[in-house]
Amino acid sequence: CSWLYSFNTLKGMNNMDKKIQDVVDVLKEYNQEHIINLLNKLEEPKKQELLEQINKIDFHQIMELYDNTKKEIEIKENVIESIPYYDKEKLTKEQKNEFDTIGEEIIKSGKYAVVTMAGGQGTRLGHTGPKGTFKLDVYGKGKYLFEILAENLKDANKKYNTIIPWYIMTSKENNDQTQEFLEKNNYFGYDKNSVMLFEQGELPLVDTEGKMLISKDLKIKEASDGNGGVFSSLRTSGMLADMKERGIKWVFIGGVDNAILKMADVTLLGMAIDKNVQIASKSVVKANPHERVGVFCKMNGHPKVIEYSELPEKMAEEIDENGELRYGESHIMCNLFTIEAIEKISKEPLIYHSAFKKNSYIDENGKEIVPDSPNSYKFEAFIFDSFELFDDIAILRGKREDDFAPVKNKEGVDSPKTAKELYEKYWERQNQK
Ligand code: UD1
Repeated sequence: CSWLYSFNTLKGMNNMDKKIQDVVDVLKEYNQEHIINLLNKLEEPKKQELLEQINKIDFHQIMELYDNTKKEIEIKENVIESIPYYDKEKLTKEQKNEFDTIGEEIIKSGKYAVVTMAGGQGTRLGHTGPKGTFKLDVYGKGKYLFEILAENLKDANKKYNTIIPWYIMTSKENNDQTQEFLEKNNYFGYDKNSVMLFEQGELPLVDTEGKMLISKDLKIKEASDGNGGVFSSLRTSGMLADMKERGIKWVFIGGVDNAILKMADVTLLGMAIDKNVQIASKSVVKANPHERVGVFCKMNGHPKVIEYSELPEKMAEEIDENGELRYGESHIMCNLFTIEAIEKISKEPLIYHSAFKKNSYIDENGKEIVPDSPNSYKFEAFIFDSFELFDDIAILRGKREDDFAPVKNKEGVDSPKTAKELYEKYWERQNQK
C-alpha cells in the first residue's frame, strides 16, 4: 500500500513538473524570463494560480500587439471619404412619423434590449469606483449615472408599455462593486429580473521591452480589453443566448457616461429598419476640429469611426464645399445592432489599439514601482471597429443639446459641471413640452 502511495505521488509530481516545464518553455519563447523567476519563487497555492493564468494567455497575440506598437498607424493607403447621414431636424413630419411607428412597434413587442458598457472606472473624473457610481450634482440632491440611465429606461418602459431587458457590462475590476451598488440602491426601481450583469475580458499590460507587468497579487497584471470586448463577452457570458431566448431583434449599446443618452430612440430604430441595415448610430456635429470624439467616415467603402487619438491633424481640420468639417459627424456612443450583427461580430477578431499609460507594477526584487510617466502598453478593442464588417450603416444626426452630455473630465470641457447644465436644461425643455 505504501509503495502504491509513493508511486502515485511520484507520478503526480512528474505531471506537475511536466506542466511547469511546458509553461517555462512558452515563457522563454516569448522572452518572459522574469515570470519564470517569479514562478520559481512562489509557493502553493499562488504558484498554481499563476500557472492557470499563464495557460489562459495567448502569448503570441500579445507579442504581436506589442510589435505593432512599433509601427506607424497607416491611413494613407486607404480611400477615406465622408459619410452620408440623415439629419433628424430635417426629416419631414411624415418621414419622422413613419420611422417612429416602425421603431415603436419593435420596442412594444419586446424585441428590443439595451446594453450599457460600464467596465470603465471614473479615474479621469477623480472618482474611485465604477464610473456608473459617480454622482452628478443635478437638482441639488444629485443623481448617480446608473440612476440617470435607469430613469431613462423606466420612462421608455412606461411609454411603450414593456420592460426592456437591461444588460450591464462590468469589468473584472468593478463587477462586485457594481453589483453591490445596484443591489444597495434596489436597481433604482428597475425590475431586478430584467437587469443582467456580465463581465468583459482582460489582456496583459506590457512594458516598453515587451515584458508583461507583474501585479501586487503576484500575477501577470491585466486590464480591461476595451469596449470592443462587448461582443465576444456577450456571447461567452451567455447573454447573447439569453437575448435570443427572449426574442430580441435589436440591441442598443451605449456608454455609461452620457447624462442625456437616448437608449430607446424610436426614430433611429425605425430609420435603421426602413433602410434595411444591420447597424445604425446617432451622431452630433463636432463642436470643434479637436473635440475628443471619434468621427464617422467611409474607408474603402465601409463605415468607420476614426478615434480622436488617431485622427491626423489635417483630416481633423479639413473643410468641405459647404464650409463644414468634412469629418464632422461625431460618434457619441449611441449604437444599434441587429441580433444577427452582434452574433457575427462576436465571432470576428476586432483589431486592438494600444495606449501608452502609467501602470504600477512589482519589480524583480518584489518592490512596488509607481511610475510618474507612461511605462506600459494597454491593448483595447473599440466598439466601432465592428462597423467595418458591414457594407452600410444608417446614421442619424441628432442635436447636441438633446443627445450628448458627456461626463469625462474632472474640470473644464465634458465635466460634471457642463453635463449638469446640459442635463438640467434638457429636462427643463422636456417638462415645458
Ligand atoms: C468614447 C469613444 C469615442 C466617442 C466618445 C463619446 C471609444 C473607443 N471611444 O471615447 O469615439 O466619441 O466616447 O463620448 O469607444 N468602457 C468599458 N470597458 C472598457 C473601456 C470602456 O465598458 O474596457 C466603457 C466606459 O465605461 C464608457 C465607454 O466605454 O461607458 C467609453 O469609454 P472610454 O473608453 O473612456 O471612451 P472615450 O475616450 O470617452
